Amino acid sequence: VLDGRGSAIGAGKPLSLMLLTVQNSAFILTMHFSRVPSGEHRYYASTAVFLHEVIKLAVSLTLALYEASKTLAPSTPATVLFEQIYNAMFAGDGWKLVVPGILYTLQNILQYVAIENLDAVHFQVLYQLKILTTALFSVYLLSRPLGFKRWLSLIVLTLGVSIVSLPGSTANVTRRVSGSDSLLFHGMPDHFFPRSRHELGHPVLEGAPAHLTRRSATYEGIDNDLQFVEPPMNYSLGVTAVLVAAAVSGLTGVYFEKLLKESPTQASVWVRNLQLSFYSMIAALVGGVMWQDGAGIREHGFFEGYNAVVWATIGLQAAGGLLASLVIRDADNIIKNFATSISIILSFLVSVWVFEFEVTLTFLLGTLLVLLSTYMYSVFEEASVRHRPPAIRV
Ligand code: C5P
Repeated sequence: VLDGRGSAIGAGKPLSLMLLTVQNSAFILTMHFSRVPSGEHRYYASTAVFLHEVIKLAVSLTLALYEASKTLAPSTPATVLFEQIYNAMFAGDGWKLVVPGILYTLQNILQYVAIENLDAVHFQVLYQLKILTTALFSVYLLSRPLGFKRWLSLIVLTLGVSIVSLPGSTANVTRRVSGSDSLLFHGMPDHFFPRSRHELGHPVLEGAPAHLTRRSATYEGIDNDLQFVEPPMNYSLGVTAVLVAAAVSGLTGVYFEKLLKESPTQASVWVRNLQLSFYSMIAALVGGVMWQDGAGIREHGFFEGYNAVVWATIGLQAAGGLLASLVIRDADNIIKNFATSISIILSFLVSVWVFEFEVTLTFLLGTLLVLLSTYMYSVFEEASVRHRPPAIRV
């Protein structure tokens, strides 16, 4: 069964949305965790961005080959199969993926810059601006008018997300920390304990015992009189990075969607992902690994600072990219952003469970607004279906 845009309607759509929501929470947690100074040299962000593209390329190639093999006779030699994929990759308008490839790489690197220089609360609130940039680019590039009610639901969503992410919407958990919790607490996003960050032994501190500065530190018996100092964050750099990333996210997501759904070259999502990760990989290698971090990598090595958390971050990011493309194909970019907004709520729910978080009235109000706006948006979907382009089989 195909919907108005030629996408298969089935169990896959809600599943990919749900997985994207879970992935987003897990990704932000692990990424933040992985960037917290650990006393050792921190890994180079560009190497992670590059490797996640390598993983996406491998998965996309495998699935594109599988897809192509189904259209060929069983006895067809493998060389024909590879030739078919090669042609699909570089034929037609495949070169157009150079643009989103460079932009997504920029966005992915900016994301790291932002998360290092902002606490997670500010990062997540500001990053939600991509909901609005995506809507603006959808209207402009896809000629897809939203209608008053959909605009209203976007405003309600932004409001709800902002309220949820306000530091005041969370309770202080300082007194509940115990030695056995140390690994969970250490390096978790600050919005989990906005008023207790300093007392929980943030790794950048002065005059504190050395064991508090390491990832393996335990916090049992923390002396509250210790003088903890602010980590060396560059707030304006962080804000600029996240705002540019939000704008790039809106533009690139919509550009990718336009290519996937409106291009006369009817390439499947796996061929598109193959093209995208190929150009992104080159952009990450040249712009990130060689140019941005080149000197450091030559001195310390490509895998400097790698550990299990870094690999988990890379794996989660790759999974997120592939899931995002499925959601863009089966639904659209705006719905993708709703899924990631709900992930903020999921992060809070995990923190209630893991960190005995006290839910406040503002948190409940914000949550309610996000859920209401999601409901509003899906109820009003019918109104804009009429404006969509004719079906394209992908
Ligand atoms: O923040 P936003 O939702 O725009 O992030 C989308 C992410 O998904 C980016 O990190 C981008 O690299 C990834 N993506 C991808 N393949 C696609 C579409 C998006 O890897 N086809």
